[in-house]
Amino acid sequence: MEFPKDFLFGAATAAYQVEGAWDKDGKGVSNWDVFSKIEGKTYQGTNGDVAIDHYHRYKEDIALMAEMGLDSYRFSISWTRIYPNGDGKINQKGLDFYNDLINECLKYNIIPFVTLYHWDLPQKLEKNGGWTAERTLKAFEQYADTCFKAFGDRVKHWITFNETIVFARHGYIFGAHPPGRLNDFKNYYQVLHNVFLTHAKVVLNFKHSGYQGDIGITHVFNPAFPADDKLSSKKAADHANMFDTFLYYDPILKGTYPEYVLTHLKQKGYDFDLSQEDQETLLKAVPLNDFIGLNYYQPMRVVANESNASRELSREASTGGAGAVSYDGVYKTVSLPSLSYTKWGWEISPEALLDGLHLLKEHYGNIPIYITENGLGDEDPVIDGEIKDTLRIEYIKDHLAFLKKGIQEGIELKGYFAWSAIDLLSWLNGYKKQYGFIYVDHQNHLNRKKKDSFYWYQEVIATRGENL
Ligand code: BG6
Repeated sequence: MEFPKDFLFGAATAAYQVEGAWDKDGKGVSNWDVFSKIEGKTYQGTNGDVAIDHYHRYKEDIALMAEMGLDSYRFSISWTRIYPNGDGKINQKGLDFYNDLINECLKYNIIPFVTLYHWDLPQKLEKNGGWTAERTLKAFEQYADTCFKAFGDRVKHWITFNETIVFARHGYIFGAHPPGRLNDFKNYYQVLHNVFLTHAKVVLNFKHSGYQGDIGITHVFNPAFPADDKLSSKKAADHANMFDTFLYYDPILKGTYPEYVLTHLKQKGYDFDLSQEDQETLLKAVPLNDFIGLNYYQPMRVVANESNASRELSREASTGGAGAVSYDGVYKTVSLPSLSYTKWGWEISPEALLDGLHLLKEHYGNIPIYITENGLGDEDPVIDGEIKDTLRIEYIKDHLAFLKKGIQEGIELKGYFAWSAIDLLSWLNGYKKQYGFIYVDHQNHLNRKKKDSFYWYQEVIATRGENL
């Protein structure tokens, strides 16, 4: 079987991780421009000042993507290029850059799939309370509308936010992303709600203003499974799914929050402001979402945390491997000898992706889904100048094969975006952890080179995945 004709084979990046040019052409300062320069926050002090210089080399990069045959390129817009201060004056040069980037994609019939927020918040707004402050929510609505107006004649696929769980949790509980708060649970839950409410308002505006196209949100997807057959592990997995999946998907897909979560938050004193009006807004937006984006890397194998141990807070502990106590102390993730893992300790399980998709279907019915990220972070072997990323090929091949099975089993899958189109800056792992089909030589003027996976993905796209 081939993948359906309108299924999008794509690849993704995010502005801060590729663009560089952090202070060029009127761009304002983002929270990551500041945070990455605080000692100890990122791997070897890496930052996105230059990144892989996609800002200046996007033509070359998009030509390579076109050669690979991508149907679609998922990239994000840097808010501070458009509004240097978050709100206020628009920077025309920022609009020009994204107009050029979008036009370059279209020149090759590559569909631009645009994320409005992939974590780089204008520093002015961060300083003013970030996602806890009303001003940020209003500013985002305005920024989103500006993008719809400026690019909406050509961009027909929009993602509002990338992985709320990750930027909120790392920012307010682990201190690993800006604003670098530790264990600020109260604000963590408030930020989640503020973001989901803002998403709902943006979706309502998009549809009511008559913009044409599809709009949705992207969540990280880490379905939890009990690591053994103990009842306590089963309960731990249920709890993990409530707090790591349904808490994020329910407000978007049902317009409510899970009772289980709300009850827990009340008991702990972490309940957030949820007015009648907010609830109505969430509900109104539900049927207007055109899709949901899932970023899937790994599932969680969990057991109950029966000790008093809490999560160790360090940069390394924030990078995602199994073997950590959950952020709320209720469960632990474990690694099992029978399973396979990446060099960074992330489990490799295409089966769990399909099981997870069925879990979502049971809860929400059939919703159009894009896999907006999936891929292997590795240190790719370079042999005689060739980048032999065989493990990445295996990884993506297996995931695509399970997705094909998912389509046959009735999951409404609309596309797949590999993470990432090209090697880029990992927020916390620098340039060491590579994900791309295209290699970037940091020793040699950031020169681009096609990896083995480049040719492999090219063949997959050309044959619409028939041989997978
Ligand atoms: C996702 C993000 O969470 O994971 C990406 O949306 C990120 O921006 C990717 O790069 C991989 O994470 P890491 O930590 O391996 O770079």
